[in-house]
Formats: sequence, structure tokens, C-alpha cells
Amino acid sequence: MKHLITKILNLGACIYDKWARHNLLEIYEKLINLADINGNERILDIGCGSGTLNLMIAEILNEGSVCGIDVAPKMINIAKKKAKEQDYKIDYKVGSSTKLPYENNEFDIIFTCLMYHHLTYEEKSETLNEIQRVLKQDGKYFSFELCGSPDDLFHQIFLKLFTGNSGIMQGLYPVEIIDKSGFYIEKEIKGSSFAKHHHTSYRVLKIEHG
Ligand SMILES: C[S@@+](CC[C@H](N)C(=O)[O-])C[C@H]1O[C@@H](n2cnc3c(N)ncnc32)[C@H](O)[C@@H]1O
Repeated sequence: MKHLITKILNLGACIYDKWARHNLLEIYEKLINLADINGNERILDIGCGSGTLNLMIAEILNEGSVCGIDVAPKMINIAKKKAKEQDYKIDYKVGSSTKLPYENNEFDIIFTCLMYHHLTYEEKSETLNEIQRVLKQDGKYFSFELCGSPDDLFHQIFLKLFTGNSGIMQGLYPVEIIDKSGFYIEKEIKGSSFAKHHHTSYRVLKIEHG
């Protein structure tokens, strides 16, 4: 966990959990609807935070399974506690999106939600390569991410302060690294969301064949 923004969220994991449960439910619902889950898939949520999306997925699973991974140990602790309280079997790991501890072609569906603004340009590229590796050839990757600098000066300065010159904000979730990692965008829904300050995008990515 190298970046300031990630360290701060880890320390404030309890507060983040409450904030996410209050503000992000609509986004999670939209991601789940986009994925059209039949309940028998093997699913991975990368940068899963405190695990609220995973709980919503677990609720609609039949024979399938859901895993979550995050670099922040405090986030994973909260996610594990919530799953235990609700009696769901969710396989949580502390680990990085740039080196996923999973087999090739393991998952039918992969999600990321609001993770790319924590990654440098190189890490974004490594992450997409890793997603390509662990996703099945006919699998789908669904994301909800920031896709441009905020409109207002306050949020621009706020993000700059936490991300410094690390290149974290560079391109946010750039299309050229999507192409390079062998994905194509099957569907994209853009809009302003998330307290209206941020440009965001839902993307459905599939592996390019041939
Ligand atoms: C804004 S939070 C979003 C959490 C969750 N997806 C949600 O919707 O509530 C970003 C999360 O990405 C995690 N993260 C940052 N860099 C990561 C990396 N390289 N690999 C895995 N998780 C990472 C952070 O620890 C944090 O929990």
C-alpha cells in the first residue's frame, strides 16, 4: 500500500464503510444489473473495499461464488466481519490488483468500483493485464470509475493534494491501456455522478479474440 490516498482510506475504513453504504448502493445495483448475474458464476471484486458490493452479489448467488481482494487490511477486516455477520461465504484476500493471487481463466465476471484513481499509470496497465489473465476467455469485466478531472476547483485541489505527482490521476482509466491489454469496450455509459462533481463511466469490457 504505497499511495497516500489508499493509506488514508485504510485508516478511515470504518468511516468509509458507512459512507459507501449510504452513497454507493445505486452504483452497485447498476453494476449488478449490467452483469445480469445468473447465480452460478465465479465472481471477483478487485479493490473491494469494505465489501458491500460483494454482500449484494452473495445474496443472489446459487452455485456460484464471490471473492474480494484489496490492498488495505482494515478494509478487508471489515468486509470479513460483515460477511460473517450475514452468514455469507466470501473469500477475501489482502493483495494487489497488479499481482492477483488467482489462476489463469478463473473468473466469469470481474468488477472494479472506484479503484483506478488509486493507481499510477503503470499500475493501471498492470492491473488490466492481470484482469485479462484471470478472466475466462468469454468472461466479462464490469467497472464503475472516475473518467475525467472534476469540474470544480475544490475537488480538483482535493484530489491533487492526496495524489501529488504520482501520476495517479493521469488518464484516470484511459482507453489506450484498455486496447493494449487486449480488451475492447462492449458498452459504455457515461455521466456525472457521485455527488455530481465527478465524471464517471460504467464500462463493460470483453477480451478481444484474434
Ligand atoms: C474508493 S475505494 C472503493 C472500494 C470499493 N470498491 C467500493 O465500491 O466501496 C478504493 C479501494 O481500492 C483499494 N485499492 C487501492 N489500490 C489497490 C490495489 N493496487 N489493489 C487492490 N486494491 C486497491 C483501496 O484500498 C480501496 O479500498
